[in-house]
Amino acid sequence: MKRLWIIVALVPLLLAGCKQHNEATEDAQMRVFVDKLMAQMTLEEKLGQLNLPVTGDIVTGAARESNVAEDIRQGRVGGLFNLKGVEAIREVQRIAVEESRLGIPILFGMDVIHGYETVFPIPLALSCSWDMAAIERSAQVAAREATADGICWTFSPMVDICHDGRWGRISEGNGEDPYLGSCIAEAMVKGYQGRSLADSETMMACVKHFALYGAVEAGREYNNVYPDDFHMFNEYMMPYKAAVDAGAGSVMAAFNTVHGIPSTGNRWLLNDLLREQWGFRGFVVSDYCGLEQLQDHGVQDNLENSAIQCLEAGLDMDMVSAGLVALADAVRDGRCSMRTVDDACRRILEAKYKLGLFDDPYKYCDPTRREAVILCDEHRAEARRTAAECMVLLKNENNLLPLRKRGTIALIGPLANTRPNMSGTWAVAAVPDRYKTVKEGLEDALRGTGARLLYAKGSNVLYDPELEAIGTMFGREMRDPRSAEAMRSEALAIARQADVIIVAMGEASEMSGECSSRVNLEMPDAQHDLLVELLKLGKPIVLVHFAGRPTVLNWEADHLPAILENWFAGSETADALADVLFGEVNPSGRLSVQLPRHVGQYPFSYRQMRTSRVNDVGDFRKFSTCYMDVNAKPLYPFGYGLSYTTFEYSGFFLTDSVMPLDGMVEAHVTVTNTGSRAGAEVVQLYIGDPVAKGVRPYRELRGFERIELAAGESKEVVFPLTADRMGYYEPYGLKWTLEPGEIQVMVGPNVAQLDILRLTVQ
Ligand code: BGC
Repeated sequence: MKRLWIIVALVPLLLAGCKQHNEATEDAQMRVFVDKLMAQMTLEEKLGQLNLPVTGDIVTGAARESNVAEDIRQGRVGGLFNLKGVEAIREVQRIAVEESRLGIPILFGMDVIHGYETVFPIPLALSCSWDMAAIERSAQVAAREATADGICWTFSPMVDICHDGRWGRISEGNGEDPYLGSCIAEAMVKGYQGRSLADSETMMACVKHFALYGAVEAGREYNNVYPDDFHMFNEYMMPYKAAVDAGAGSVMAAFNTVHGIPSTGNRWLLNDLLREQWGFRGFVVSDYCGLEQLQDHGVQDNLENSAIQCLEAGLDMDMVSAGLVALADAVRDGRCSMRTVDDACRRILEAKYKLGLFDDPYKYCDPTRREAVILCDEHRAEARRTAAECMVLLKNENNLLPLRKRGTIALIGPLANTRPNMSGTWAVAAVPDRYKTVKEGLEDALRGTGARLLYAKGSNVLYDPELEAIGTMFGREMRDPRSAEAMRSEALAIARQADVIIVAMGEASEMSGECSSRVNLEMPDAQHDLLVELLKLGKPIVLVHFAGRPTVLNWEADHLPAILENWFAGSETADALADVLFGEVNPSGRLSVQLPRHVGQYPFSYRQMRTSRVNDVGDFRKFSTCYMDVNAKPLYPFGYGLSYTTFEYSGFFLTDSVMPLDGMVEAHVTVTNTGSRAGAEVVQLYIGDPVAKGVRPYRELRGFERIELAAGESKEVVFPLTADRMGYYEPYGLKWTLEPGEIQVMVGPNVAQLDILRLTVQ
């Protein structure tokens, strides 16, 4: 019997040993293959592998004219990006494989950011689900669809932490918190890459933008960033590292500088930190023209020197600048080392090997799979479920929501009947014609119920047509030519007949995203004016709010009884909204970014570091940290979100009040659904370290669990606390440390409603 137990106990160890052995054998086989291939390659062909030109319908930055096909024949292209369509990709791959000297297949990359044709909510919205399994599945679905259309590499996840709603790209990230952001980074990489890149339904992830892009000064796109090392490591670096630890195959260098050196040519960042300290073994690609931008930054005066700096710093692939591909002379005359060219070329070839492209260059080019998989019912159902989970119920006076399916409902607003605005920013592969508008979703939900739905657009997005044109998806949305008065009176006329008014308002899709920095974050003017008039009718109004960023909703919170933050919820927005508005789904989204009261509060994070002259209330108090003219607290705090049911927290305790530094204590809390319908709650754990060598935040998230509770049901949630979970990068050596002393352990439904216990670490 005893012997049997020993064998059982040894099985996991043996399996782990086998896995390591298999990996080592696979690595050795890969090395032999790549060595053999590289031995046949000319210098020019090696440099060709480092070249990533753009193609496709939608391009960013300044696309340059290039004869891509001829370059591929000549072995001057390692990968291509944003080409959509399996037939086109197969044809380009054929040129690489059949018409170039060595027949090396190329990588096909794309910005598959939040789904492919089945579009999931924008990443900021996804992060509000706090549902790691759903987030991982969203990446899996994206990979299944993209790989069915020829793509094997996505420029995602974007894991830039951001504390500034002015920055349009906050929409592409996971909010403001490094712990939540790290969990999501890991889930996304796992979702895209699955168990093996060799699988034909998985694709290689690319973590971006390394590093600190979310800290752009004043929230202005492409601006500089200034976090010092202490804040860099404690606030921004964790999610990149989590993605690398999860095995991400590639990393994209950011446009910005770090320590005064452009990331793309920053040896400390790419070589010392990423490769040597973190052990990253994949390849690094620049962002769009990031290499040639060393000249814009003023650290180089020509393309060749920029390329040398970047290659020597650890960059492997050059997106669009065509600088690395032109380095042959510099290598021959010794200005650039052959070793760095070999290292970079090897990393690109290894990625192709891991993806299985040398075994079958057309493995992602099966048109029958495209037909079966893309926008299939299963994917759309998954996206609809996820979209509903991401919506955050901000206000619900007198339980106005969920609405009953009866009487007359007026649907009003410029976002109520538009297709191009559903997906949200960075949906390169979207096919808006196949998505429903909110109006169509509500009509479907109300069909056969006897309820009447009336619709009027009511206003354009903005009064200014030019601003509106750059804020809607590549000009695909038509502006209504009628006067503001005519549109408004039509809306008021239908609103008068209604029992309840739903307004679909907020940002158009490209008012957030890349190069969409804004400083006016209130409801756009034309829509605000319409809301004021609608309010005068004295009818209940539900605001369905569209946004790709945290916006300022003070007026709305003061005047409207119900606000549902829809963000941009993707291709299935319409059905998901109907599910939530009519109560098929109980909302469970929680803010991953706090909402400000005024844009002047930015940069602004719930992870406020301890400061002198503390002010707990936020109102003006002379000689305390505050503003004279606005309360310094957020309008809605981090972690906040309502439900159609209610939850009560009880029985919060620690299994011990003292913890040795190498020990473990558990925090237990019981949550009860005290309402009359099932719902999901996100139980959040924060810690505070009141005395440490480096200044720490009053509260920082270090655990969460999303639980489903039937009406009346209770569940106990347990958070294991260890030094590892509660530590920080201490200021002297930037080592992950937990110092002995008191730790505040806090649990609750959001950061502004916490119970607190004290733990002594010794
Ligand atoms: C963006 C990247 C994107 C790239 C390729 C750049 O402008 O910053 O996030 O992956 O374009 O489209």
